Amino acid sequence: MKKLLGSLELNRIYQLDVNIGMKLIPDNSISLILADPPYNIGKKGSYLEANNKKFRTVKEDWDTIDDFESFTYSWLEESYRVLKPGGSLLTYGTKHNIYMTGWFIEKIGFQIRTEYTWYKTNAAPCWTGRNPTESTENIIWASKGNGWTYNLNYAKSLNDGKNIRNVIMKSLTPPREKKQGKHPTQKPLEGLTDILLNLHTNEGDIVLVPFCGSGTEVVGAELLRRQWISFETNPEYIVIANKRLDNLYIA
Ligand SMILES: C[S@@+](CC[C@H](N)C(=O)[O-])C[C@H]1O[C@@H](n2cnc3c(N)ncnc32)[C@H](O)[C@@H]1O
Repeated sequence: MKKLLGSLELNRIYQLDVNIGMKLIPDNSISLILADPPYNIGKKGSYLEANNKKFRTVKEDWDTIDDFESFTYSWLEESYRVLKPGGSLLTYGTKHNIYMTGWFIEKIGFQIRTEYTWYKTNAAPCWTGRNPTESTENIIWASKGNGWTYNLNYAKSLNDGKNIRNVIMKSLTPPREKKQGKHPTQKPLEGLTDILLNLHTNEGDIVLVPFCGSGTEVVGAELLRRQWISFETNPEYIVIANKRLDNLYIA
């Protein structure tokens, strides 16, 4: 039998704008929101110039948002409404969006619990040589009040019986996780997404993935027997995500 969350089915990806989809989710109903949003890097242009050379940067239509502040504030505000008391938000970012996101999160009323750093062990070098090599992404962990989930025993199992530090060392997404199709900003499933889900949810919990992309976070939730719901505007990415779900134990 299909399980419902308000008028939406659980364990399904909806082709909907996040700020429309989230309005359909009941108050206080979600345990974890695991968000990998647009960073709005595309708006800055597709090329960097240095030393008379051009270097390509991320340039995707979905990552170019006119009123990025309103867009970000809206989905964060809705996140607070739909989370259960004590529920958690984990949201990715880099220097491009993380400071604004953190400010909005506090303004809305979340409590910031920590900031994980994903240290990319094989990040691409800084071709221009004008900056150090960007090797990290941040993941803000914020809760809706007290009563948050942090699975200490799981954390200890990752680190010889001691609690982990808030740094996760993990290489970029390997080709074996891209067999069903490619997404330009696909996150690693093993060693990053699975760790976040195991730390902050338990079996049966409902996870909201507001920006599905190729489905890394929903595949992780499904593999770990969490319930989930997700939104994505690009139908091509939904096809990839559904293929990954259909081939769960293969890739
Ligand atoms: C950073 S990517 C997520 C990648 C994902 N973590 C993965 O591993 O594949 C963000 C995704 O959000 C989608 N997106 C952008 N704007 C959106 C919106 N307004 N509503 C829903 N999805 C949106 C984009 O199409 C893109 O696939």
